[in-house]
Formats: sequence, structure tokens, C-alpha cells
Amino acid sequence: MGARLERVGAATRSAVLEWQTTWSTRFLSARDPRFDAVWDVAKRVPGWFEQIIAVAQFQLLAEIRPQRIVEIGSYLGKSTVFYARSLEALGIDGVVTAIDPHTGDRQHLEALGLSELASFDMYRAHLMAAGVFDKVETIVSTSHQAAQGWVDPIDFLFIDGWHSYEAVLEDGNDWIPHLTDRGVVVFDDATKYHGVSRAVSDLAAHGTIHLYGDAFGQAFAGRRPDAPESVRTVLDSYRPVTRHLPVRLAKTLEKNMGVRRFPPGA
Ligand SMILES: C[S@@+](CC[C@H](N)C(=O)[O-])C[C@H]1O[C@@H](n2cnc3c(N)ncnc32)[C@H](O)[C@@H]1O
Repeated sequence: MGARLERVGAATRSAVLEWQTTWSTRFLSARDPRFDAVWDVAKRVPGWFEQIIAVAQFQLLAEIRPQRIVEIGSYLGKSTVFYARSLEALGIDGVVTAIDPHTGDRQHLEALGLSELASFDMYRAHLMAAGVFDKVETIVSTSHQAAQGWVDPIDFLFIDGWHSYEAVLEDGNDWIPHLTDRGVVVFDDATKYHGVSRAVSDLAAHGTIHLYGDAFGQAFAGRRPDAPESVRTVLDSYRPVTRHLPVRLAKTLEKNMGVRRFPPGA
């Protein structure tokens, strides 16, 4: 009986989350018709960067209009293609800097029991196929090495490298000081990996960032206490199921759905 209930609970959770993601994807996509053409190219590249994450970030790029995007962790180039194509679609004359040692994604390394898995050749092939290889500044090194001597201001920072407490804390301390006043940093898998969520909370506790909240597993933050409007739109869009319910019922539902939330200002 217990096992059966658990299975029903898990199936309900997964259905609710799927419905929520579909709802948010449609809602956010409808806000800017330019997204579809960008996603049509980026979605062909294999990788972890999902449509809901792309459409959420597209809102931010459209508002911030970044002159410099820095991406830590490119893997096979899916998010890199998305950033380069987004700049084009939004008519922004900006630069995408993509940093990765191309020594392997943590999940794959652990699953295969390997210590290294080269990804640069596929990364390059995917960027060439998307017609953006020459438009991206590719740095093949660890993010910490790339940070040495870095001076340029950054308007949009995506931290999606090694998913451990130490690595994310180091990325935050190395790169966030270069974020512009209205710049935004997005931490990938911030609610999935305990080490990542702890690092994000600690960066906020030490005043390195102001944490705006999390949605679709990503944490959104910046140097200013007030979130840009696009971030607020994304955070609000994450609550189609629960935001119209009374607070206690919504909290119970979120808890049972396995949704972790950073409290505002954490
Ligand atoms: C989750 S994947 C990135 C996924 C990618 N953003 C996408 O669109 O699919 C993580 C990547 O981080 C890279 N990585 C590992 N250690 C790193 C480090 N110290 N600095 C930068 N990148 C690192 C790995 O080589 C891997 O390609």
C-alpha cells in the first residue's frame, strides 16, 4: 500500500511539474516571437540546456541587451549556440565568451567511471553548423585559469561548469566582481545539486550577490538588490499551479513537488 501510494505521489509530482514547465514555456515564448527562430537552431545541438531554460534566459537578454556574455561550461555548445544566435536575433552587437576545459561533463564522467572525456571537437562542429564559431570567443581552460587577468565588464554570466560547492563558490568569487551594476548571473542546477545551492546561498550570505530567486532549477542573482523586470517575470511564470492557491496549500504542494526555493534575500 505504502509503495503504491509513493508511486501515485511520484507520478502526480512529475505530471504537475511537466504541466508547469509546459505552461511557463508557452507563456514566456509568446512574449517575444524572436525566440522561436533561435531555439529552432539551438535545440538541434545535444546538451543539457532545455527549452524552458532558454526561453527564460531570452527574456533577460532582451531586457539587459548584454555587450558581454560569459558562459562557464559549454560542453557540446548548446547554450553557446543559443547565446550567439540570441544576440543576432535581438540585434545586439555583443560578444559571447565560452569557457570550458573540454575535459568532460560531471554526470557523464561519473556514469562512465572515466576521469576525462574530450568534447572540443564536437563543440566546434556544432558551432560551425550553427554558423557562429567565428562569432564566439572560445577559451579552452578552466574558469579559474580564464579569470586570471580578466578585466572586461560582464552583463550576463552563466555558471554551468563543475557542479560542486568549491567550484561554484570559486566561480562566483572569480567572476561576479566583473558583473556590471545591472548585470545578471544565472546558476545552473542550483536546486538539483546540494553543493551548488549551498554555494549560491553562501555567496548571497557574504554579500557577493543579491539572490532574486529560483525557477526551473536555476538561481537568478545580480549585484543590485532589486531584480530586473524580466527576472521578476520569469520567477512569476514559475508558479502557474501554485500562485493562485492559498499560501499554506501552495507551500505543501511545492514541498511535495520537490521544488526547492531560495527564500528572497537568502
Ligand atoms: C553541464 S555541462 C555544460 C552544459 C552546457 N552549458 C549545455 O548547454 O549543454 C558542464 C561543463 O563544464 C565543464 N567544466 C568542468 N570543469 C570546469 C571548469 N573548471 N571550468 C569551466 N568549465 C568546466 C565540463 O567540461 C562540461 O563541459
